[in-house]
Amino acid sequence: MEQLLQQIQDIQNEITAVQATSHEEVEQFRIKYLGTKGLVKQIMGEMKQVPNEKKKEFGQILNAFKLHAEAKLEVLQAGLGDEAEEDNGTDYSMPGDPTPVGTRHPLNLVRNQMVSIFKRLGFAVAEGPEIEDDWHNFGAMNLPLDHPARDMQDTFYVKEGTETESAWLLRTHTSSVQARVMETQKPPIRVICPGRVYRNETISARAHCFFHQVEGLYIDENVSFADLKQTLYFFVQEMFGKDVKVRFRPSYFPFTEPSAEMDISCQICAGKGCNICKHTGWVEILGSGMVHPKVLENFGIDPEKYTGFAFGMGVERIAQLKYQVNDLRLYSQNDLRFLQQFKSV
Ligand code: DAH
Repeated sequence: MEQLLQQIQDIQNEITAVQATSHEEVEQFRIKYLGTKGLVKQIMGEMKQVPNEKKKEFGQILNAFKLHAEAKLEVLQAGLGDEAEEDNGTDYSMPGDPTPVGTRHPLNLVRNQMVSIFKRLGFAVAEGPEIEDDWHNFGAMNLPLDHPARDMQDTFYVKEGTETESAWLLRTHTSSVQARVMETQKPPIRVICPGRVYRNETISARAHCFFHQVEGLYIDENVSFADLKQTLYFFVQEMFGKDVKVRFRPSYFPFTEPSAEMDISCQICAGKGCNICKHTGWVEILGSGMVHPKVLENFGIDPEKYTGFAFGMGVERIAQLKYQVNDLRLYSQNDLRFLQQFKSV
């Protein structure tokens, strides 16, 4: 008994002193002390010889001895800079956890499709700032100073104007990008301008304080209203299919003359009449017209030589007809249950 205790003490001291600098050495330690034929097992086997009344005390000593060896093994493994190299329960051949890749926002899907249709007709993409000065948003677009759209009700002003300084505002339409393009480019001009616009509206299912538009501008010699109609007809056929019907209604915009709004046959009820088309069978999707001579003159473009057409349409309206989403608020609530339904156009 005395001898056995001494032996245990010696082995424990030996274990304490062991050092290892490689995986092989750690493995040798494990085999020598903790392997199936290792010293710890051997000593455990000696339990048989221990008289019954000493078994409990001896058992505790043996247990501490084993823990000491196991703890040392862990220290040696940690010293090599990695956790248990041997089987730690991880199966490295298992496939990893799936990483969700996300989906495109429905408005971006629709915008991308709109852009790609117009690109095929030779339109380039132009962008402009969302914070604009009064001139680019209103003045250059022939909105006289007393035009109701300048009213504080509709426009978010960032900074009020003074006698000498321009007002700054959140653009109310992407027509402001027309101004930016005409300022920097000479005809022929053929651009579309997708972007976000802002209006001071109470948020409801049908209105929001920001939404998205795609503006179009085409200026060259001999551009006619027929070109405008054909371009927009091509667009809606690509967007909604060959069966779509269109109609133009005379309208008024300060920056175009003549002006027209375009309706398409309701894509929800196929023209039969529903809530979306207010039982008329038609849905308005855009405003358009021939660029007003004053607008051309504002940018030094000779209206005797050049003519052009312009249009502006709401991305939300197109998305609504494509996806039958009735509540505009869904587009900006970032509810994944809504967004994940849109995998592709
Ligand atoms: N800017 C107009 C709006 O926000 C839309 C529009 C109408 C744009 C006619 C145009 C246009 O370029 O010619 O309601």
